[in-house]
Amino acid sequence: MKTTVEWPNLHLSAHPLVQAKLTRLRDRDTAYPEFRRLMEEISLLLFYEASGALELASARVQTPLEPVEGKRLVRNLVLVPILRAGLGMVNGIKHMVPEVRVGMLGMYRDEETLQPVYYYQKLPPGIEDMEVFLLDPMLATGGSSAAAATRLKEAGCRRLRMVAILCAPEGVKAFFARHPDVPVFAGGLDRQLNDRGFILPGLGDAGDRYFGT
Ligand code: PRP
Repeated sequence: MKTTVEWPNLHLSAHPLVQAKLTRLRDRDTAYPEFRRLMEEISLLLFYEASGALELASARVQTPLEPVEGKRLVRNLVLVPILRAGLGMVNGIKHMVPEVRVGMLGMYRDEETLQPVYYYQKLPPGIEDMEVFLLDPMLATGGSSAAAATRLKEAGCRRLRMVAILCAPEGVKAFFARHPDVPVFAGGLDRQLNDRGFILPGLGDAGDRYFGT
């Protein structure tokens, strides 16, 4: 992971597998079955990096030969995808960490105003004591992610980080203006937004490409 001087809380993956898979994800000739698989794999790799500092406690187990002092995670983990495209980031992670809980925040971006419109929320009880991973493949204007982080803080979440596949400088700036305390882990930082709020060069509409709509 690399950080930048301007945004010390932005962690950009430098992993070769992430970079190679991200390039295939961007390719407009990548059809949606492969797009799905790539998005799930990249999400898992980013989650691996984003979970690198989780707190551990000692746990004693008995191997077939003798007792050993091992480790266990101190807190439960919860993924909170922002519907709809964030759902595409859940499967790969769930496969590796079957015990993760999954909350959901429903939000879409108004095509005219580019403002997030909230429509649904379901979070696991006790989320205030869990390690929370907010998931959305695109951090474009940052409006959706920042509004989602605000809702999670209002729900009592204290250990929160955001995982995105791609982000734009405009969105990162807007997100950290509201949530300087929430680390962002991303596969790449792209050049800019276009006038419709799409990331350039980007990968197109992640939700449409993942769901084949
Ligand atoms: C996209 C994307 C983010 C949001 C990013 O969702 O998945 O949620 O836009 O934009 P922002 O950073 O400018 O808020 P979209 O509105 O297309 O909804 P969908 O996921 O339901 O397709």
